[in-house]
Amino acid sequence: MEKQVKLTIVPSLLAADFADLRGQIAQAEAGGADWLHLDVMDGRFVPNITFGPPVIASLRRLTSLPFDAHLMIVEPERFLEAFREAGADIITVHYETCPHLHRTIQAIKALGAKAGVCVNPATPVRLLSAVLGDVDMVLVMSVNPGFGGQSFIPSSVQKVAETAEMIRAVKPGVMLEVDGGIDARTARSVVEAGARVLVSGNAIFGSPDIPGAVRSLRKAAEGS
Ligand code: DX5
Ligand code: ZN
Repeated sequence: MEKQVKLTIVPSLLAADFADLRGQIAQAEAGGADWLHLDVMDGRFVPNITFGPPVIASLRRLTSLPFDAHLMIVEPERFLEAFREAGADIITVHYETCPHLHRTIQAIKALGAKAGVCVNPATPVRLLSAVLGDVDMVLVMSVNPGFGGQSFIPSSVQKVAETAEMIRAVKPGVMLEVDGGIDARTARSVVEAGARVLVSGNAIFGSPDIPGAVRSLRKAAEGS
């Protein structure tokens, strides 16, 4: 890959110290984070519970970084407006939670947000072919959603490559994001496969030097 390709580094707050979100966001920002990833879990679609619109609305006052909301919730269409009002700039829903995915994507866009669609590790990405022309971003999960700190699933690299190929063929402007187990080593492999937006939780907030971890992840991902 040519080194000049612009990568978007997106720290996931799931791995941050929740008692000091203000400080942790400031440190991620100091390291050059491009967006912030907000993992919303409902204890139903995934076996964990995190936070919802009120927390996001409070965080919105702390930073102007774009908010990348990853909704791991059933019936996400019921809450799109609340997440948009709270300050989400990109709203990503799971393919597995949306029987009327096209309608849900249109609803996100009608709220003025960018629309993302996500696939679990076991969901073939070709199932997105009918909506690829409608979305702004595809998110390929490289772990089973629900928890931070899990190991990257190696077959995700091939899946990212397949997604990149589909995007090239249908709508080259669609962003390709990867989430789960992204660190200096795995970041490079998914970037080589075509990912340009990298979510990372533990590799950033688990580090004693958060700004440094953002910078080293970017360097490693760029292959520099
Ligand atoms: C997992 C979440 C991820 C998680 C990634 O369900 O969607 O965003 O925070 O954390 P790491 O980078 O630690 O795997
Ligand atoms: Zn996520």
